[in-house]
Amino acid sequence: MRIDDFKLECYFGKYEFSAPYLLAQSDCESMSARELLAMEPGAEEEYLNQNLGYTETWGDPELRDLIAGLYRNMERENILVFHGAQEAIFAYMNVMLEPGDHMIAMYPNYQSAYEVARSVPDCGLSMWRLHDDGNGWSIDFDELESLIRPETKLIAVNSPNNPTGFTFTNDQMSRLIEICGKHDLYLFSDEVYKGLELDGEPREWAADQYGKAVSLGVMSKAYGLAGIRVGWTASQDRELLDKLVRFKHYMSICDSGPSEFLAKAALKHGDELLERNRSIIRENIKTADAFFARHPEVFEVKTMECGPVAFHKLKLDMPVSEFCRLAVEKKGVLLLSGDVYEADGPYFRMGYGRKAMGEGLAKLEEFLNEEFRL
Ligand SMILES: Cc1ncc(COP(=O)(O)O)c(C=O)c1O
Repeated sequence: MRIDDFKLECYFGKYEFSAPYLLAQSDCESMSARELLAMEPGAEEEYLNQNLGYTETWGDPELRDLIAGLYRNMERENILVFHGAQEAIFAYMNVMLEPGDHMIAMYPNYQSAYEVARSVPDCGLSMWRLHDDGNGWSIDFDELESLIRPETKLIAVNSPNNPTGFTFTNDQMSRLIEICGKHDLYLFSDEVYKGLELDGEPREWAADQYGKAVSLGVMSKAYGLAGIRVGWTASQDRELLDKLVRFKHYMSICDSGPSEFLAKAALKHGDELLERNRSIIRENIKTADAFFARHPEVFEVKTMECGPVAFHKLKLDMPVSEFCRLAVEKKGVLLLSGDVYEADGPYFRMGYGRKAMGEGLAKLEEFLNEEFRL
């Protein structure tokens, strides 16, 4: 298999662990293992005493129960645990796509959601684009229907969306499912940011509502535990999960026991962790809005419906990739240029999930003053 570079990961590989001011991150503030274990009485001792042998390929049974508990219609058997969300996307696309198929991907999207399709010979790919409507991002369902062909096999969506912060309402999700049902399509629903919606309306998971849907979840984003690398697929389609597990045998085989232990501790306190991260995002929105209000000639701000990312527009007369390069090289402020998403405008991603966002914005302001006299 030949597959193109993952542009975002290549860019982050260069700066993520050297730039001191991270303003582009898509995960929420993390914590130490000790802090997490302290939330659950007796957990630290149990963690230290655990056996470090192989674990079950499907995932720790208690962890699968806890994940199933996040859904309305899922049981342990409907959950397959993966080494992060990335492994699950790669497995799903490999298992599903064959030469001659066609898939539709919401766009922009996490690159692996559509790059595997590009690597399968004679596999068609169409993008269902989010549109910049001035204040924020929106999507058109008539456009989606116009992209469906007789050979279309699946639709891959990412809502809440990275990088735009766009989120389906529950009515929009129902409309999507109705369209998939009408055309008998599979639905891959990447919901890794679920739980960070800012309008207070809890969103339904796709897999609860549609038999041919897979919902993708992870501990990395909304829970802020990216380093434990625990993700999962949930689906009513047990045959499909069975195909995925057989693909997983060729990848990680099974997940890390210590990570699964930490994921269980986190999910037992999931609501608390989500509220903690939503409140960091709300505070950061206030700080960022004040920053943007001081620089209306530089940025066109897009509303985010869900944390922790937004995709704003640069108004300066220069390539956005150059603006981002200068910011990181001169001031150590990491922003993510929309180029990595092949965006059709001068957009850049900003992350609102980290506590130190204010310091990063102060450095960015310094950069604007020194570099552009703004
Ligand atoms: C939309 C989306 N899906 C999947 C992933 C992969 O998540 P993980 O790092 O947990 O594998 C990311 C990471 O940025 C993402 O933004």
